[in-house]
Amino acid sequence: MGLRSDLRTIRHMVFPRVAGETPAERMESYYRSTAGDYDAFRERLLHGRRELMARLPTAPGAHLVDMGAGTGNNITYLGERHRKECRRITLVDVSASMLEVARRRVERSGWDNVETVLASATDYRPADGQADIVVFSYALTMMPDWFTAVDHARAILRPGGTIAVCDFYVARKQPAGGARHAAWRRHLWPAWFSHNNVFLSPDHLPYLRARFTPTHVRESLSSVPYLPAKVPYYLFTGTKD
Ligand SMILES: C[S@@+](CC[C@H](N)C(=O)[O-])C[C@H]1O[C@@H](n2cnc3c(N)ncnc32)[C@H](O)[C@@H]1O
Repeated sequence: MGLRSDLRTIRHMVFPRVAGETPAERMESYYRSTAGDYDAFRERLLHGRRELMARLPTAPGAHLVDMGAGTGNNITYLGERHRKECRRITLVDVSASMLEVARRRVERSGWDNVETVLASATDYRPADGQADIVVFSYALTMMPDWFTAVDHARAILRPGGTIAVCDFYVARKQPAGGARHAAWRRHLWPAWFSHNNVFLSPDHLPYLRARFTPTHVRESLSSVPYLPAKVPYYLFTGTKD
């Protein structure tokens, strides 16, 4: 926590260590040394997560899967009702270091319906059937095969199930609707974030709209700690027909 933690995080963002042959190995190498500092800085960078979790439908006996769950911070945004009603909450991630922070959080919380699973969002399957809710928060931008992850989420969701996504993005140059972004924004942010293997895409929202029936879409701008410019992010919830 505090300035020291911020300085470690910023140093890591300026000089990221990313090694490995597979996307999973690269993720783990990126987060291994900074998983402990993750939450304090991301609380001020990753906006919309609280709203996203508050928007999840409640359904008695539901299985909620958080793909790319990282440190499991999203469970702190779940209300009592979800806590009680969810049969199971599964936190899926490819980084063992991030999941270890999540595991300790779950242990402290005393929630007995939360599990952590080391797996990729492109192939994790619930052991006991289909999921009712799949969440991706600031995870698709770190998945090179994000479209495969979205397709896979659709495959494991039950009909009528909900997908909930929030992430950074940029609008298309000529969007069919919704927000328009100035050229500097569309060029600067993808270049800036790609240094840390975060790939902002103009195609997330159009793809999500095509694969699911939207129930809520919000496009906005968020502040970035220590920077004067704002970065675009979106919230999307939708259902599988
Ligand atoms: C920016 S963090 C977001 C973590 C968390 N969802 C949050 O909102 O704080 C992205 C996470 O996605 C994970 N990740 C990247 N690719 C993945 C994949 N293919 N399958 C599962 N997790 C993945 C990373 O290890 C990392 O923990």
